[in-house]
Amino acid sequence: MNATTAAQAADIVAALLFIFSLAGLSQHRTARAGVAYGIGGMALALVATVVVAGRGISAGAVTLIVIATLIGGAVGQWRARKVEMTQMPELIAVLHSLVGLAAVLVGWNSYFGVEAHGAAQTEVAHDLLRIHHAEVFIGIFIGAVTFTGSIIAFLKLSARIKSRPLTLPGKNILNLGALAAFVALTIWFTLSPGLGLMIAVTVLALALGWHLVASIGGGDMPVVVSMLNSYSGWAAAAAGFLLNNNLLIVTGALVGSSGAYLSFIMCKAMNRSFFSVIAGGFGVEAVAGGDTEQGEHHEISAEDSAELLASATSVIITPGYGMAVAQAQHPVAELTRVLRERGVDVRFGVHPVAGRLPGHMNVLLAEARVPYDVVLEMDEINDDFGDTTVVLVIGANDTVNPAATDDPSSPIAGMPVLRVWEAENVIVFKRSMASGYAGVQNPLFFRENTSMLFGDAKQSVEGILRALGPADSGSAAPRSGSRPAEQPAHA
Ligand code: TAP
Repeated sequence: MNATTAAQAADIVAALLFIFSLAGLSQHRTARAGVAYGIGGMALALVATVVVAGRGISAGAVTLIVIATLIGGAVGQWRARKVEMTQMPELIAVLHSLVGLAAVLVGWNSYFGVEAHGAAQTEVAHDLLRIHHAEVFIGIFIGAVTFTGSIIAFLKLSARIKSRPLTLPGKNILNLGALAAFVALTIWFTLSPGLGLMIAVTVLALALGWHLVASIGGGDMPVVVSMLNSYSGWAAAAAGFLLNNNLLIVTGALVGSSGAYLSFIMCKAMNRSFFSVIAGGFGVEAVAGGDTEQGEHHEISAEDSAELLASATSVIITPGYGMAVAQAQHPVAELTRVLRERGVDVRFGVHPVAGRLPGHMNVLLAEARVPYDVVLEMDEINDDFGDTTVVLVIGANDTVNPAATDDPSSPIAGMPVLRVWEAENVIVFKRSMASGYAGVQNPLFFRENTSMLFGDAKQSVEGILRALGPADSGSAAPRSGSRPAEQPAHA
């Protein structure tokens, strides 16, 4: 078996490993194995690519490839070790931008290798030249949209720019016009390729990527991130065609289609139209109001919360991004155990986009060893709030905002939310009256049956645990060194 055949066989094995990886990642229990398959597949793919690329190029060039791979691997290791769970979507957005940039560079490189030399002097068969022109153009377009779109997503997710939607006049016309211009330029380039058209499509796609994501509001960013994930897959597949790399085509198609399917599922969960996501359109016509005061809010102390919980028959905990920031999952798990030992029925209601990445809350609760059977999805628990004595909203905000159902002018109108306000009592754990990720005020905080427990969520839950005292088993004693819940001044 020569090196090329061996590399082709390795490509097939790597593609299978990627499919196993996706299958493994779809469940908590098999996720680790899924990651291992992915790492194995990528290592094999790298070796096979270097073996094939290494034939006919100098030893110096191979050394450069190896050095670049080692540097890239080291940077990846360093970032992955350093990143906080809450910063994961930002990291993913940055990585998508690199895939987009790579596709743009591959397209330009391919242009200089083929089109720039004129039809007579290329190695590409004459009949296939037009297809090559189209591949270059489409690859650059998808890559450049992914590049700037992902950078804007990163800036919004990391709060470096405001998450509110940009509303340029006639924004839908601008997006449709850019798409129409792309189609026209592609036909032109396929008939008569030239440097001017290359520059035009690159600039057009960079501007479109920026505008598509800038026009989308903060509450809808999860769908945007998974949509960019899909775009980055198609950008990689386009680069695979240009590089004649079958594995890149297969991998890109896997990422592209799984990202598109995830976007579709999220659109359904958030009651958004899939088409309007792709068109970068939703959340924009709505009035971004809601920061106005809505009346008086009531405060509650950790001790009074403990009293309420001790006399409750049923409790639902709805965790959100703030639980992740406070790293409150362990005391929350302890509180669950203590209450259940006292005979209280405790369950969790998890919103599909709570936190900052799909499954964020499930991962934290699993890490704190909360039993799987008390952790329910939004649809499974939403009808039960009316029969619940106390709901603990721990660091959630947008996902429990009644404006989504009551106020058609709200930027999050139509998004399904956990109907916590239907319970007898609601206790909201947060540090201030600040709005959530979507930047809209939450009328829940001003309802008669809602009380605010201000402070860091971890310290507040620990305060409740202390006030509840040891459980019947005696094992719910307060943790040493923990301080009482803070009651800071709030906006
Ligand atoms: P958010 O609406 O983001 O609100 C989180 C709340 O946690 C904030 O209001 C904040 O209020 C509070 N908080 C922060 N740190 C805290 C701490 N240490 N202790 C106590 N409270 C703390 O949360 P959510 O309900 O989970 O909604 C998620 C939002 O993120 C949605 O808009 C969703 O669309 C978006 N998003 C989701 C994803 C995915 S895939 N899940 C990805 C990107 C964006 P204070 O500052 O007053 O404490």
